[in-house]
Amino acid sequence: MDERVTKIAALANIAAYSPELTKDYIDGAPHVKHESLRVLYGNLVVQVYDEAKKHNANPRVLDIGAGEGSVTLSYLELGATVVATDISENQLISLKKKCSRFGSKLEVRCEDVSDTIKNNSDSFDIIVANSFLHHIPDYLGMIDRLQSMLAPRGQFFSFQDPLRYDSLGNATRLFSSISYYFWRITKGDLIGGIRRSIRRKRGVFLQDCPYDNAEYHVTRNGVDQDEIHNLFQANGVDCQIISYFSTQNSFFQSLGALLGMKNTFAVIAKTVGSE
Ligand SMILES: C[S@@+](CC[C@H](N)C(=O)[O-])C[C@H]1O[C@@H](n2cnc3c(N)ncnc32)[C@H](O)[C@@H]1O
Repeated sequence: MDERVTKIAALANIAAYSPELTKDYIDGAPHVKHESLRVLYGNLVVQVYDEAKKHNANPRVLDIGAGEGSVTLSYLELGATVVATDISENQLISLKKKCSRFGSKLEVRCEDVSDTIKNNSDSFDIIVANSFLHHIPDYLGMIDRLQSMLAPRGQFFSFQDPLRYDSLGNATRLFSSISYYFWRITKGDLIGGIRRSIRRKRGVFLQDCPYDNAEYHVTRNGVDQDEIHNLFQANGVDCQIISYFSTQNSFFQSLGALLGMKNTFAVIAKTVGSE
């Protein structure tokens, strides 16, 4: 993987998550916005935690790309000890505010995920990467390296990444695009959205445009759920891919789910080593 691309994507994230954009992020984050997705997500968070509790009374969680801390907060509330890392200081300011009452149960580090991995000497019962894989150009290499940081019976848990685009049916792709542009119209940002989409189709990534990184996965082919599954299985790790439908607009969210469409996925992978 081109190191320059990785670096640019990481740097652009620092700009992308400024405080002014936080409200926009929530509006653009279907798993935060729609109740049905919040329920699915909440159930998986708890399922992963309950599993970890079977093997460690005090589960240790690493939240990578922790952002403003919605996952970190959930795991702290459940009783875990959490190390939260993110490249954006702005995001972490919100996270610290949100989670301040948990004191020494929380450690926060502002760093690139590659440094989190490089400098790590701990092992974790849960490594969570929520809405994060699509921000990392070499997400497969990252997942591969993260596996060595899992405790025996440890779990990797990711949520809210786009399924590989060419694995979706034409109808789902069309429906997802219509929904996306409809949402853009309601945001009063249709022209901007179309411009960015054309630019990305030409493979151009602007470092000083915060949206480019927030939408960076669009420059690729989604996130390859099959490669992730194969990577874990090849290392003897049980891996479950959970697919569901997700879009920003509430009407299209209900309709897409009703029609049984799927364009987004979660991963729960569990090492099988002895304790
Ligand atoms: C879509 S947000 C998700 C935040 C949080 N996990 C959530 O679900 O609300 C993606 C986060 O990844 C962070 N990020 C992107 N690239 C990163 C990198 N290379 N290293 C660490 N964090 C990164 C961004 O700063 C941002 O906070």
